[in-house]
Amino acid sequence: MKPKSHTPPISRRRFLAIAGATIAVPTIIPGSALGADGRPAPSNRITMGVVGWGMQGPGNTGNFMNQPDCQVLASANIDKNHLAKSLAAINGKQKNNDCKAYHDYREMMARTDIDTVMLAVPDHWHALVAIEAARNKKDIYGEKPLARTIAEQQAIVKAVQDNQRIWQTGSWQRSERNFHYGAEIVRNGLIGKITRVEVGLPSGHTDFAGTGKPLLAKLKSLNVTNLATVVPGSAAWDMAVSEAPAELDYETWIGPAAMEPYIQARGHMNWRWNYNTGGGQLLDWIGHHCDIAHWGLGNDNHIGPLEIEGSGEFPAPNALWNSCTKYRISCKYPDDITMIIAGGHSDIRSGTKWIGTQGWVWVNRGNAFESSHEPWENDRTLPDADRKIQLPLTQGGHWRNFLDSVKSRKPAVAPVEAAHHSAIPGHLGLISMMLGRKVKWDPTREVILNDAEATRMLSRGYRAPWHLS
Ligand SMILES: NC(=O)c1ccc[n+]([C@@H]2O[C@H](COP(=O)([O-])OP(=O)(O)OC[C@H]3O[C@@H](n4cnc5c(N)ncnc54)[C@H](O)[C@@H]3O)[C@@H](O)[C@H]2O)c1
Repeated sequence: MKPKSHTPPISRRRFLAIAGATIAVPTIIPGSALGADGRPAPSNRITMGVVGWGMQGPGNTGNFMNQPDCQVLASANIDKNHLAKSLAAINGKQKNNDCKAYHDYREMMARTDIDTVMLAVPDHWHALVAIEAARNKKDIYGEKPLARTIAEQQAIVKAVQDNQRIWQTGSWQRSERNFHYGAEIVRNGLIGKITRVEVGLPSGHTDFAGTGKPLLAKLKSLNVTNLATVVPGSAAWDMAVSEAPAELDYETWIGPAAMEPYIQARGHMNWRWNYNTGGGQLLDWIGHHCDIAHWGLGNDNHIGPLEIEGSGEFPAPNALWNSCTKYRISCKYPDDITMIIAGGHSDIRSGTKWIGTQGWVWVNRGNAFESSHEPWENDRTLPDADRKIQLPLTQGGHWRNFLDSVKSRKPAVAPVEAAHHSAIPGHLGLISMMLGRKVKWDPTREVILNDAEATRMLSRGYRAPWHLS
């Protein structure tokens, strides 16, 4: 899908922001327009609503509240404890009671005084929440991977384009200097023609919520040491199932996914290890290191893999934690480029490595950068002469970049089309691994070729009353 121009209707707040940026008005905001704390007056701030307050929501929101021109007005959550924590944190930081609580994110989205939203909900909720936001004309900071299926991703891209919204994905590595540097070296041909890309991701399951450990302690008498071995019908499964806690609206939490009994160890944060709600390590990380790989290759738009073949180790499909624990996917791209995406294989290093006819570059978190050309390692910016193709260099961080885009109406560094294309190799790799055969993809029409069963896996049924439209 091609990106479209982003020219939104201009609200009063946006008009002021845009005027301030582009028309000859005083750059110093008059004292009368300033808030008491020297920030732009509330009427000139970008207003925000947040959905989700688990692992990622608080960090994203904190980064936005650190920007003087952002004001958080609302928080939506279906867990009363998370909602209360979000209000305490937001109103505490903003030193007022302006942030209002919502159980239903749709009521929050309907507010016309909210310009933007930060979305950090589990993957099975990404599409519905993002589409609702776009239709309500919010600019969106949305988390990776773009969605739980390719069909949902296509629906999000369409809603964002049709409504001319600014979108920033939580693929924040794009705003880190070493990733930018590596991708620019590659884009500028400084390691020759690219032949191979290696994308190394985590493997196994991680008990992020700390809810797996107490369950395993409870199951010790049954000699269970791994939640990936617990299946329905067993005594261990029966011990794992419980009533949902009173603070959680579990019916809505499970939302469009298939209804299943409540098991705390695959609720908050650990929903990733259950394919009903998440995509395992592969999809959890595809929007980071594969996103960077694509950025370097210039694949943000419709250049995608043509053939995808993967193999992995899976627990039983109905296991408590059923996502793939070890995997290796080979993707053939145009121009004879092969991308290997792997988790749990020691020959593929964590991070992104591009290999060309004249050298290689490897990048990872923690400002890590290595290359075949040693002098490059002393720097994080290419000399201007080598930057014939310039990738956007964010100023002030990934969250600042979103707010700047909201004002300028120019695309953010991680637009929705990029998020869509970055995640496609992960989704198709998972389909290939589940079917045990190669999948052929037409990246222009975005269809799987000659495989009806694989095609059906591009989307999933929605539990009523939820539907994707
Ligand atoms: N960019 C990053 O580095 C990064 C890191 C971690 C997580 N993430 C992403 O953030 C998203 C959230 O992950 P998490 O680990 O924070 O999950 P989490 O389970 O810790 O938190 C999810 C939050 O969403 C709330 N929620 C769920 N359904 C809701 C609904 N329908 N309406 C309102 N609130 C709802 C939950 O109650 C909870 O507060 C995921 O997409 C994940 O991939 C990104």
